[in-house]
Amino acid sequence: MDKLLIEGGTPLAGEIAISGAKNAALPILCASLLSSEPLHLSNVPRLKDISTMLRLLEQMGVAVEDLGADGLLLNSRGLDNPLAPYDMVKTMRASILVLGPLLARHGEARVSLPGGCAIGARPVEQHIRGLQAMGAEVLVEHGYIQARAQGKGGLTGARIVTDMVTVTGTENLMMAAVLAKGETIIENAAREPEVVDLANCLVSMGAQIAGAGTAKIRIQGVERLHGARHAIMADRIETGTYLCAAAATGGNIRLTNTSAANLDAVIDKLFDTGCELLIERTAITLQAPPRLKAVSIRTAPYPAFPTDMQAQFMAVNCVAEGSAVIRETIFENRFMHAVELIRLGADIKIDASNAMVTGVGHLDGATVMATDLRASASLVIAGLVAQGETLIERIYHLDRGYERIEEKLGQLGARVRRIG
Ligand code: EPU
Repeated sequence: MDKLLIEGGTPLAGEIAISGAKNAALPILCASLLSSEPLHLSNVPRLKDISTMLRLLEQMGVAVEDLGADGLLLNSRGLDNPLAPYDMVKTMRASILVLGPLLARHGEARVSLPGGCAIGARPVEQHIRGLQAMGAEVLVEHGYIQARAQGKGGLTGARIVTDMVTVTGTENLMMAAVLAKGETIIENAAREPEVVDLANCLVSMGAQIAGAGTAKIRIQGVERLHGARHAIMADRIETGTYLCAAAATGGNIRLTNTSAANLDAVIDKLFDTGCELLIERTAITLQAPPRLKAVSIRTAPYPAFPTDMQAQFMAVNCVAEGSAVIRETIFENRFMHAVELIRLGADIKIDASNAMVTGVGHLDGATVMATDLRASASLVIAGLVAQGETLIERIYHLDRGYERIEEKLGQLGARVRRIG
């Protein structure tokens, strides 16, 4: 299993380009299931999760053509196997995103129920309830969700109020609704920018969607969708991760191919730490102060501070002046990085969903273990700050969500090496 060896202590400096967003690309790849015409996607990040999703789509009968720098061409004309097997779903929970589109276009789907996850239980009952409201017959047995659109007419539009804000739940229901008969209203919808990117792609395929980016999305079902071209939005979490890495190391970096528009909550907190930020239309520059100030955060659905940036911001606070409270409200077990950060010398006390972080003068390199994607990113940041060598084990988690991470960090002057 690959490990990452980091020799810390060098402030990040220079410029890199941000990749397309993993969490926008994953549902958009699934949107290709909704039409028999080709979907041409550009700015697709080359990540493990993306290749897993492509394999899943291919085994369903979707033709995938890799156009190199031009992106991917997906054609689901030959879709003949509406099945997401356990082997694939267990490695990537986002596989659940095939459920809505399969049901909408194929009238049936068999998708393995995702199991537990390192960061929380993450059930999918909201996805199922919403599809049932649209008239799907859903049976959960032998670890699989078996879903069938009742009758000849397929799914029917419905008014759905989700119990909590769910990102992939909103995406799944939106994809099911675009081909349903009549109008669907999703209330308490996720407002995440990735939901908006998916809606934009669906609209360019001929869907009728209003209100994406608000808590009430209205979808008018259409007979069929057609082919389209779509460029995946920039990854706001990758952007935030590099900004935090620059802040923590006392660096000065410029990130291109990205936007601050979707990152207000994170940028505001970085301002509060004392960083200077220059925001351009498609670039962000950050200059760290000599010593950061500790800043408290509370995660919540968009537009509040994203849970996917919590671990990285904890690493920033580890070396800031003063104390900060980090409150995680989305996932019940998303502090696994804290115990690893403590191995590097951080001062963190966990009490249920609160972490009290008191900044220390320096961190010391050590061997640590990555437990999930964003936890891994926080260990990379801590390793870049720490004196001496930090060895991060199980970095396959990082490869799921950060494109060419050691190459990008190298471009910023970090001393990072992958060892097999
Ligand atoms: N929830 C339920 N029942 C449901 C659905 C969700 O109880 O049917 C709960 C979850 O357990 C969680 C909360 O609702 O406590 C929010 O979960 P959500 O459904 O929004 O999460 P998700 O859609 O499974 C996406 C991202 C995650 C990100 C979360 C929150 C993708 C592919 N994944 O997950 O990304 O943390 O939204 O913003 O979009 C990551 O990239 O590292 C990552 C974990």
